[in-house]
Amino acid sequence: MNDIKLTEIKAIAANKRWDDFFSVENAGKAREFHEGIPEYEKTPLACLSDLADYLGVKGLYVKDESYRFGLNAFKGLGGSYAVSKHIAGLLGKDEISFEEIISPEVKETIKDLTFVTATDGNHGRGVAWTANKLGVKSVVYMPKGSALERHENIRALGADASITEYNYDDTVRIAQKQAEENGWVFIQDTAWEEYEEIPANIMLGYTTLALEAFEELGDVRPTHVFLQAGVGAMSGAMTGIITSYYGDDSPVITIVEPDRADCIYKTAEAADGKLHIVEGDLDTMMAGLACGEPCTIGWDLIGAHADFVMSVPEAVAARGMRILGNPMGSDTRVISGESGAVTTGIVYDLMTDETLTEFKNKIGLDENSVILLVSTEGDTDKENYRHIVWDGANSAKR
Ligand SMILES: Cc1ncc(COP(=O)(O)O)c(C=O)c1O
Repeated sequence: MNDIKLTEIKAIAANKRWDDFFSVENAGKAREFHEGIPEYEKTPLACLSDLADYLGVKGLYVKDESYRFGLNAFKGLGGSYAVSKHIAGLLGKDEISFEEIISPEVKETIKDLTFVTATDGNHGRGVAWTANKLGVKSVVYMPKGSALERHENIRALGADASITEYNYDDTVRIAQKQAEENGWVFIQDTAWEEYEEIPANIMLGYTTLALEAFEELGDVRPTHVFLQAGVGAMSGAMTGIITSYYGDDSPVITIVEPDRADCIYKTAEAADGKLHIVEGDLDTMMAGLACGEPCTIGWDLIGAHADFVMSVPEAVAARGMRILGNPMGSDTRVISGESGAVTTGIVYDLMTDETLTEFKNKIGLDENSVILLVSTEGDTDKENYRHIVWDGANSAKR
């Protein structure tokens, strides 16, 4: 009937080497750093009670990351924390506060650094924003087809930003090569065997949003969390901190990917202990999720502790964008972009589409379910947002 797929994660080769790193204590250190940034404010957790009633679940909460640091996406949490840890390391420390980093003495020490990265838009904007605050250079490479608005937003922060002729994963390789050739610091939001320290800190930076959400939920314990994945760094980090925080009471975790870039789905489905890659143009309007090579750290956490992966078509994200932007009753409006809204879209589909009943039952969604979602971005490509919301997924320009 429809093209939505689900696979169970079989923890046959669960690798728990990152479990301790994503502890509540370490997450607290990242949060403390973020709290020292003048623009820091907790992002809102929208409680969509009317939508929950309509769908027949007990609760539905959406963490709205469009409010993060004025950057319209959650990604600034990762880049800023990883940069702080790198600078702390240069100074022989473990942690450094934002106030210290921008002190004249530290600024003088780091003034010749250049940070380089590859991005679909959101991570690069976070790195450029951080570099701008520290008064250092940043170089940002974007995959082909990147939205001009996202490119402009990065350039406006003073970065040397360019759009390449390659897909996301190849653009990452270009950034890495440039870092090696020029002695720049490579701040990438995905990991592979030989490159894990900086991405691990980026991922730890993401956990600030989780701690904020848990705190706000208080006694309300989520039974289900849906997390969207590109390389799986964000969803891996969330899986890690959720497991540390809730322990034996952890919710059911479902990872959601676009079917045009479903490397985590393919990795989970194969369950052969290897990472599975998706090649080609990764032509999805969910630009933040258009990644074909799983993040090693992310997969270790997901493989060990998450429960399901879903691979979904474009229309699911479009529906999520429309639902969040046009709330029911007295629910709060959430402006959610292509990559931000796909989890809302799939929850709606699971609860309303009878052809998905088998999946709904496997995941265990019912009237007692309390669902937590993260809208990871706002309308970071305003023109595309309007096309999709007004005219549907087929009208997406990218
Ligand atoms: C808005 C948004 N949501 C989700 C993600 C997915 O994060 P990850 O690549 O860590 O899976 C990204 C990544 O760029 C993003 O920009």
